[in-house]
Amino acid sequence: MSKMQLLASVTVLLVAYCVQAKVYFREDFLDGDEWRSRWVDSKHKSDYGKWKLTAGDFYGDAEKDKGLQTSQDARFYASSARFEPFSNEGKSLVIQFTVKHEQKIDCGGGYVKVFPADLDQTAMHGDSSYYIMFGPDICGYSTKKVHVIFSYKGQNHLIKKEIKCMDDELSHLYTLILNPDQTYEVKIDNKMVESGSLEEDWDFLPPKKIKDPEAKKPEDWDDRAKIDDPDDTKPEDWDKPENIPDPDAKKPDDWDEDMDGEWEPPMIPNPEYKGDWKPKQMDNPNYKGTWVHPEIDNPDYSPDLTIYKFDNIGVIGLDLWQVKSGTIFDNFLITDDVKEAEDIGNETWGVTKEPERKMKQEQDDLKRKEEEEKNKEQDTHTEEDEDEDEGEEDNEDEEDDDEEEEEDDAKPKDEL
Ligand SMILES: *[C@@H]1O[C@H](CO)[C@@H](O)[C@H](O)[C@H]1NC(C)=O
Repeated sequence: MSKMQLLASVTVLLVAYCVQAKVYFREDFLDGDEWRSRWVDSKHKSDYGKWKLTAGDFYGDAEKDKGLQTSQDARFYASSARFEPFSNEGKSLVIQFTVKHEQKIDCGGGYVKVFPADLDQTAMHGDSSYYIMFGPDICGYSTKKVHVIFSYKGQNHLIKKEIKCMDDELSHLYTLILNPDQTYEVKIDNKMVESGSLEEDWDFLPPKKIKDPEAKKPEDWDDRAKIDDPDDTKPEDWDKPENIPDPDAKKPDDWDEDMDGEWEPPMIPNPEYKGDWKPKQMDNPNYKGTWVHPEIDNPDYSPDLTIYKFDNIGVIGLDLWQVKSGTIFDNFLITDDVKEAEDIGNETWGVTKEPERKMKQEQDDLKRKEEEEKNKEQDTHTEEDEDEDEGEEDNEDEEDDDEEEEEDDAKPKDEL
């Protein structure tokens, strides 16, 4: 091999090495109970809910679909896993995982939080400061959304857009992509559902433009589109009393002025009453339109091209509340490579989703059939009961007669 060739192949190797995807964290729960050595339970409260490793009641693959399931109702859950700390400076950041609410969730979180490496995992709780919170949240009919929250200068900022989450019982893949050009993308099941720029879709920075505090609406600015017609005057016969004495009323014959006082007819609404007079409206010849407050560049605004950047990413955590437990989290992935994440999503969720759906379908069908059979059985039972009744009737004529009498008695009542 010539020097030149050697150099070329080293370069190729180097380039290949450089574009290689970096996977910072991956957790598929494929090694039995070993996950317990990687996931740390918070001790902040003593009654956190317990996780169970399971593929659930239906799945695409009994082993691959094993994940962490919330197993106790009405509990907080707080566990986290650590990885080699990194900064996403100059690189994309992809956070991805699957959520399966197989319990028909009524209210509960399905999101992850990504923390700085200095988090004390055993002390993690709802107020522990995090970098990113991402994933579905369901409560009742009104809250069914995907959270995308970023911490910026010590404050959490919620996305201003509403992203709907999935609310069925199947596994779904949630992906957040954060790019160094300060754009982002949210995907569900490897399909883009939202995208845009950090600056526009969150309120990290003060607005670029503000209303000019120096500008004031001129005193003589006339913004009345219509005015009273000065030529229109109130007709002289306009004013009439609102109520008048009833002309048809008569003093009762037995009215006693000494006892009852002077008789006065009751008042009735005056048919000639026209209400308050208002002049006709006309176009205002001096109308200038609505005054628009001029805007100026906001002196408090300065662009920040590092909003996307988190310097010490080191922990991913599940910190959530669930009313009805049963949610399974699986296929956690944090990487700098969008394509790799999509590939892994396809290789995990993408492969098991269809058999999972089938198994669920079969279970539902079976349940329905059993239900139908039960109903049918009940129907036959009722018929048998009727047969028995007939038998009894034969044996106990007297009672039968009574019943007939009762029936006869009842009939006229029904007709009433
Ligand atoms: C993932 O799967 C989808 C649907 O089958 C396909 O369109 C897409 O190209 C796949 N992505 C990759 C990176 O292979």
